[in-house]
Amino acid sequence: MHRLLFLGPPGVGKGTQASRLARELGVPHLSTGDLLRSAVAARTPLGLEAEGHMSAGRLVPDSLVLGILKERLSSPDARSGFLLDGFPRNRAQAEALDALTPVDAVLAFDLPSDVLVGRLSGRRVCPTCKTVYHLETSPPKSPGRCDRDGTPLEQRPDDRPEAVTTRLRVYAEQTAPLLEYYRTRGLLTPIDARGSPDEVAARVRAAATRNR
Ligand code: AP5
Repeated sequence: MHRLLFLGPPGVGKGTQASRLARELGVPHLSTGDLLRSAVAARTPLGLEAEGHMSAGRLVPDSLVLGILKERLSSPDARSGFLLDGFPRNRAQAEALDALTPVDAVLAFDLPSDVLVGRLSGRRVCPTCKTVYHLETSPPKSPGRCDRDGTPLEQRPDDRPEAVTTRLRVYAEQTAPLLEYYRTRGLLTPIDARGSPDEVAARVRAAATRNR
């Protein structure tokens, strides 16, 4: 069974790699960021409460995130494995996850901070089908429009410079300590996130399928 966590700073490429690997392994890609963005877009009570925290680059309160994560993890498609991207983000979330399910491996992505900022500032997203582009490294065929459905691409509100600074600080203060939490449990595998998506995918695949 594959019960995997992807840990790493904003913009390191977790979502890009998670969607590829989840497809290959046949497990669902559970992204708390994507779940929260869907709630914001649907204007649900949860989305309305989360929106201000997200656009400022702060974490959404644990009680809200835990609620959506529990619901998603209990879906039938997650019973035979999952790839969790963006959760846990702090010690309380890690302990809550321990109480919900065992985890087989934690892949910890790392990149120099100037590269991270470049990946975040160049990211563009299709609001219709959610495809993620990058102005330099994976641009759309027709500038500013989604290859799949032609929708004008958007920048995530939290990819603006002020929010990026906050997100990187929140990561260093609250999420990076989880590296030690999982290292001491023997679950952590570091992933060098430099290079092309294909190069990183080869490292990720090797780490995720080792000893399995
Ligand atoms: P979330 O959506 O989880 O954002 P994040 O962790 O900050 O990660 P990102 O989505 O920014 O980056 P990524 O690592 O997935 O990179 P990507 O693959 O897109 O969370 C957003 C917000 O939601 C949080 O700030 C918080 O408010 C809230 N939230 C979420 N989970 C929460 C939780 N558990 N608790 C509380 N609050 C929570 O790649 C980035 C760009 O680089 C793309 O343009 C991509 O095309 C490009 N790229 C990717 N790989 C490469 C490569 N190898 N080479 C060149 N370019 C690349």
